[in-house]
Amino acid sequence: MGREVASAFGRWFALLDCPVRPELTGVCDVNAAALDWFRKLPTVRHFDTDHGSLLARPDIDVVYVAVPHHLHEAIYLDVLRAGKDLFAEKPFGIDLGAARRIRDEAARLGRFVRVSSEFPFLPGAQRAFRLAASGQLGRIIGIRAALLHSSDLDPAKPINWKRQNRYCGEAGVMNDLGLHVAHLPLRLGWKPARVYAQLQKIYRTRPDGKGGSVPCDTWDNAALHATVDIGGEPVPMSLEMKRMAPTETNTWLFEAIGTDRGVRFSTKEPKTLWTYRREREQWWEKTDLGFDMGFKAITGSIFEPGFPDILMQMWAAFLSERAGLLGDRFGCATPDEAVAQHEIWAAALTSQREQSVVHL
Ligand SMILES: NC(=O)c1ccc[n+]([C@@H]2O[C@H](COP(=O)([O-])OP(=O)(O)OC[C@H]3O[C@@H](n4cnc5c(N)ncnc54)[C@H](O)[C@@H]3O)[C@@H](O)[C@H]2O)c1
Repeated sequence: MGREVASAFGRWFALLDCPVRPELTGVCDVNAAALDWFRKLPTVRHFDTDHGSLLARPDIDVVYVAVPHHLHEAIYLDVLRAGKDLFAEKPFGIDLGAARRIRDEAARLGRFVRVSSEFPFLPGAQRAFRLAASGQLGRIIGIRAALLHSSDLDPAKPINWKRQNRYCGEAGVMNDLGLHVAHLPLRLGWKPARVYAQLQKIYRTRPDGKGGSVPCDTWDNAALHATVDIGGEPVPMSLEMKRMAPTETNTWLFEAIGTDRGVRFSTKEPKTLWTYRREREQWWEKTDLGFDMGFKAITGSIFEPGFPDILMQMWAAFLSERAGLLGDRFGCATPDEAVAQHEIWAAALTSQREQSVVHL
């Protein structure tokens, strides 16, 4: 992820109206070999293998931290206490307690902190969000948000830190994919009041990469059946996070159906926005989207955006908001939103354990 961010900074000149320009001056990884790729970048002058050394450097204002989840709390707190602002990776601490401690320390120190969640910066996601927020949907009938992939379906795939509770967290796939799914619903104020969770562990062991086999103890798939209170009415909301969803490769989707209008967007059809309208009859309309981004770029309005573009948009939003210049553009996930998603995952774990509906 560090390389992806360096790549976004490297073509910052493609943005036409971002009021802030980042410069990548230092990189850190405990694995010194991982630093080598960054040596080709002309702006990078600090190469550290200990994050304490990086944080001691006075010419660094903002730190992006992308490390395994069990290290989030300690390193995020070190960043904040070193007087730097933080662009954190999801899930923002290994569990709810860690997320609350990071959020509270950032607030106490007055540091600017946001959390990485790039899918809402896709033009289709932005259009869906704006329509859902506009009140035009009428009375909301149902909500669905999901992130689905299938890379774990291969049982021969060796274990890594994301497949072990002690590094990924007990919430497993919810820690890994969950903020991507919960970000838009939470921004719309749709935090579940009640949750019933179905969590699945599908392969319980994996190759250790050395000829043996080790336990794979994280939840692979999570289907949360939630209830959101909207306007005093209970509304069903489905949140799905799956590492074993056959045929899916990082399919992010968001759907909100109301009595008057509805909206559906999925990265499976990345330039297509579906909107439903009710008049005498009801029908779905399909709109082709182009490069309709919050921050304008040299790219022509008819062309398709991709992952590197939305990562850049997310960073432009982070840096602009930090400078007080975001305006009415969409902002990155906040520490409160990150804590709220952990509250949902904690409820889901209780629901799974007790096979019950859990009130938040
Ligand atoms: N926003 C996204 O789309 C997205 C995608 C993938 C991962 N992530 C998140 O990014 C974070 C990292 O995931 P990843 O897939 O890049 O993991 P990774 O295993 O590919 O990379 C982690 C890096 O951290 C380094 N590291 C470990 N301990 C360190 C320490 N103490 N100091 C400095 N470096 C250390 C490792 O050597 C490794 O290079 C996680 O929080 C993950 O959830 C986000």
